[in-house]
Amino acid sequence: MTMHRRAVLSGILGGAAAFGLPRITFAAGEVQRVDDLIARMTIEEKAGQMTCLADAFRPFNPPNPQAGIQDEKRLSEEIRKGRVGCLFNGIGVAGARRAQELAVKESRLGIPLLFAGDVIHGLKTIFPVPLAEASSFDPELARSTARAMAVEATAAGLHLTFAPMADVARDQRWGRVVEGSGEDVTLTALLSAARVHGFQGRDLRRADSLLACPKHFAAYGAVAGGLEYGSVDISDETLRETHLPPFAASFAAGALTTMAAFSEINGVPATADRALLTDTLRGEMEFRGFVFSDYTADEELIAHGYAEDERDAARLAVLAGVDMSMQSGLYIRYLPELVKSGAVPMGTVDVAVRRILYVKLAMGLFDNPWRSLDEEAERTRIATPAHRALARDAAGRSIVLLKNSGVLPIDPSQGQKIALIGPFGEDRDNVYGPWAFYGDPGKGVDLATGLRAALPDAAKLAVEPGCGMDGPIDGGIARAVEIAKSADIVLLAIGESQTMSGEAQSRTTIEIPAAQQALADAIGATGKPVVVLLRHGRALALHGSVADAQAILATWFLGSESGHAVADVLFGTVNPSGKLPVSFPWESGQEPFFYDRKSTGRPVVDNRTEYRARYTTTDNSARFPFGHGLSYTEFVLDNLKLSDSAMRWDDTVEISVRITNKGSRRGSEVAQLYIRDRVASRTRPIRELKAMQRVSLSPGESRTIHFSLIRKDLEFIGQGSKRIAEPGMFDIWVGQSSTGGLHTQIELYAAALPKN
Ligand code: NOJ
Repeated sequence: MTMHRRAVLSGILGGAAAFGLPRITFAAGEVQRVDDLIARMTIEEKAGQMTCLADAFRPFNPPNPQAGIQDEKRLSEEIRKGRVGCLFNGIGVAGARRAQELAVKESRLGIPLLFAGDVIHGLKTIFPVPLAEASSFDPELARSTARAMAVEATAAGLHLTFAPMADVARDQRWGRVVEGSGEDVTLTALLSAARVHGFQGRDLRRADSLLACPKHFAAYGAVAGGLEYGSVDISDETLRETHLPPFAASFAAGALTTMAAFSEINGVPATADRALLTDTLRGEMEFRGFVFSDYTADEELIAHGYAEDERDAARLAVLAGVDMSMQSGLYIRYLPELVKSGAVPMGTVDVAVRRILYVKLAMGLFDNPWRSLDEEAERTRIATPAHRALARDAAGRSIVLLKNSGVLPIDPSQGQKIALIGPFGEDRDNVYGPWAFYGDPGKGVDLATGLRAALPDAAKLAVEPGCGMDGPIDGGIARAVEIAKSADIVLLAIGESQTMSGEAQSRTTIEIPAAQQALADAIGATGKPVVVLLRHGRALALHGSVADAQAILATWFLGSESGHAVADVLFGTVNPSGKLPVSFPWESGQEPFFYDRKSTGRPVVDNRTEYRARYTTTDNSARFPFGHGLSYTEFVLDNLKLSDSAMRWDDTVEISVRITNKGSRRGSEVAQLYIRDRVASRTRPIRELKAMQRVSLSPGESRTIHFSLIRKDLEFIGQGSKRIAEPGMFDIWVGQSSTGGLHTQIELYAAALPKN
């Protein structure tokens, strides 16, 4: 091995070993095998390894199918010639076997294919959308659902998922908020890392280990105005402070691939950004796997106005550090000539091919190209009762009780007449949420089915849509009002259809569609108690009778077990415990809106002047803040204590707080620790989440929990993009959301001060 190859290899090994994954050991012969292969490969075969095409062996209707080879026969020819290294977005063992047979037995070098796909929140068992699951504030839950997804995906003949989405999303107009973990960097980092662990498991060579691909590198969630595929203009400091850490956490957890974002940063499309994909990603972040382009993103460099033509686009992408081109076919078409003409050094191509082959080696594909292609697993490990039970549990833990005047939980034994009104009542097409392409249509539990199953007398439930998702139904509101009037309580199931969030679903307002708002207002006017069951893939600005309802549950898109999980919470079988991973603003116009914003020189809390940092129509607070979520019981925090109010440079300060369940039900609360650096050489947010702990308590029970704070927790990215901590005062809050909470302060002392 040359030094360089050794470095690449030890990077992979080191990354895995350092973060709890078992060592990935390559036998000397295996490494030699990669070297030998590269030595024998033609430039066309190398470009083939660097090409990922839509899977025509087992097509399923991918999200953007306009490009690429659409038939099996033509694709077979390409595989035989070694012109493809990876297929994506098809499932099924039989098709994958046909493709793998061609690669292994009929191509000149027999290099196995990698099968990738978008398994974002489930294959057949659909778990809550990632944003919903983020409401659990529970990395262990995220790990376990990712594990279950991996079992199903690998049983269906996949090796890699294009997940988790590690983009911090701060503008709710952006449709892809739904795919990530919300607006906070710490929460996103914790959940992304947990998902990587869950997907990959402990041993990459196991048949049920699914490679993770944290995406989209980088700052895709910062597109201006929330406009999909848009531009990002961002300081280097903010990029590093807010958008890179979830990727760093994912790589530290062992992820060996990533995907360049569609968007541009500061005038350079990520796909062509060598400073980003090579200097930062590999140099600074020590990423040692391989980089996918996003879907035809290399070709899109032309539309960006960054590449002259396809050849130029391929050149720019490969030189920037995109190792695997997704779907455009540009590498296979242009790399041979680009290398021949000297426009791209062969060494650059070899490094990319080596990265890809090492990943294939790490997952055991050379030893066993048939891994994850097992008909028995396909029959027995997909959509199992255990996964379904986990989906219900996860869905219950993803629901956030935003508001409750006391109408919830409903006691079904009281025999109340319940009206289920709204377009989501019996609808089964909007249960899974976006990015659940492989889920069987209609197999998710709708609300009415879930409620009927939980009611002693199903006849107590009357159902009426009242309107469509995005338009009125003839006589719908009148019928709904009649039913509401004869009911004791109304469940109003309204919100976004699943095509309103996800890729390419940016919206200018984040409100309930007008027809549904009209329905809600008509129901509100009946004076009946109303429980709003929101369906949504982003935070919403709520108005009128929706906001005024007696209770509101954020139910997002909960997946296969949606209706059961909502019934569990409505009837109190499950005590809600979710916390908002995104702030709900008062108005759409507040976006981009997130809790860890800056103070400004005229903070809204400063009552001395009317000339403050707020809109004239609403101040810049949240209707429901980040971290907010109620329970059917009541938790009280007290006894906030510090081991020391002074933190010396290398010391740890212990923070303890007592949590008591003062209510009459068992429940679970998330204690959230926030800091504020009072004075710094670069202004700091008004609050930053640093740690959280979930505690489950019986009625009357108290527990004291402990957080440890070290200097690293107080660091930030200072001027010139250096991570620094500065001595001085820090506010500390431990609370139940990003507002309020118990408050104290610590002072960080400079290194020079002696210990006492
Ligand atoms: C485009 C999306 O941006 C990306 O997230 C996805 O993985 C690819 N398409 C493949 O479907």
